[in-house]
Amino acid sequence: MLQIQQNVSLKNFNTFGVEAAAKYFVEINHEDDLVELFMDPQWKQGRLLVLGGGSNMLLINDFDGLVIRMNIRGFEHRINHNDVFVEAGGGEVWDDLVNFCVAREYAGLENLSLIPGSVGASPIQNIGAYGVELQDVFYSCRAFEIATGTFKTFTKADCKFDYRESVFKSELKGQYIIVAVKFHLSLIPNFNLHYGAIEQELANRGITQPTIKDVSQVVSHIRVSKLPDPTTIGNAGSFFKNPVISLAEFAPIQTKFPDVVHFPAGEGHVKLAAGWLIEQCGWKGKVVGHTGTWKSQALVLVNHGGATGDEVYNFSSQIIDSVYTKFGVTLQREVNIIS
Ligand code: EPU
Repeated sequence: MLQIQQNVSLKNFNTFGVEAAAKYFVEINHEDDLVELFMDPQWKQGRLLVLGGGSNMLLINDFDGLVIRMNIRGFEHRINHNDVFVEAGGGEVWDDLVNFCVAREYAGLENLSLIPGSVGASPIQNIGAYGVELQDVFYSCRAFEIATGTFKTFTKADCKFDYRESVFKSELKGQYIIVAVKFHLSLIPNFNLHYGAIEQELANRGITQPTIKDVSQVVSHIRVSKLPDPTTIGNAGSFFKNPVISLAEFAPIQTKFPDVVHFPAGEGHVKLAAGWLIEQCGWKGKVVGHTGTWKSQALVLVNHGGATGDEVYNFSSQIIDSVYTKFGVTLQREVNIIS
């Protein structure tokens, strides 16, 4: 029997650690719980918020609807020659999945070590780090369609992955709840070590022939050294996307700011480092009220304790304004704003 609670604090369910209450709250432990929940038509009509790890959102107000906390667990793995297929419940913690695979020497997830959040949320924004994106290892996912109360399997093509984008964030937003994700991994590592800091840290450790575990440990080390630990300092990782602009837009910026940090981003485009843009505007490490940017990564906004969602949001608007004024580039928020 499903338990619908009322007036539940979400403070411990969002990594920003801001205070907000859910009018209704339910925990989903099995796929069947979703079927049962949506047999009651009232939940199809009201507002819904699906919560995984709560690590990529900013709550602005109390939530006047139903918060669905996904807690479907379990791992299944199958080996076929050198291919490995791992299916994980949507409520599994992302880094537990990574550790499950690293411990068994299943290659593919090592660069994605220590990313906060849940497995079920990972396809929504096509999580990525250190040169690897979820889409590189994604095989399929299983999702519940709210309107029909049925389950559907999405292939990689169905998901329309892009940089921090998928169909679940665009056309199908709010229509499906991801209950499980299947990954295509390998027994033969195909390491992606190009990201400078990885090579550097492997060299520091005297490692020339890295194992999957070595790469995972190095990535974890880099993350810990650069990014604030959400269990001690509230944050949701990168607050903005790195802006992708055309070469025509880029040319005058580069003329004016020859040091501008940029990376190739497909035909005729470059990706700018939002952290660099923000730092150049003087925001790096700034504390403003209860919020601010992280001292070693200006792209991460933090809650120094007691910040409200509004306060963080207003601060992010100030950053957008100043980056626009200096560079003519409009930063887009990567974090989901829930108001
Ligand atoms: N930089 C600065 N100042 C800063 C931060 C960055 O100048 O304060 C410049 C540096 O030149 C650096 C470059 O920006 O070389 C890139 O910085 P970094 O390697 O830290 O990566 P990022 O582009 O800021 C992205 C992802 C992160 C991911 C890292 C590592 C986005 C929005 N963010 O950050 O993902 O961990 O690359 O791959 O794409 C997240 O999405 O929440 C997240 C943390």
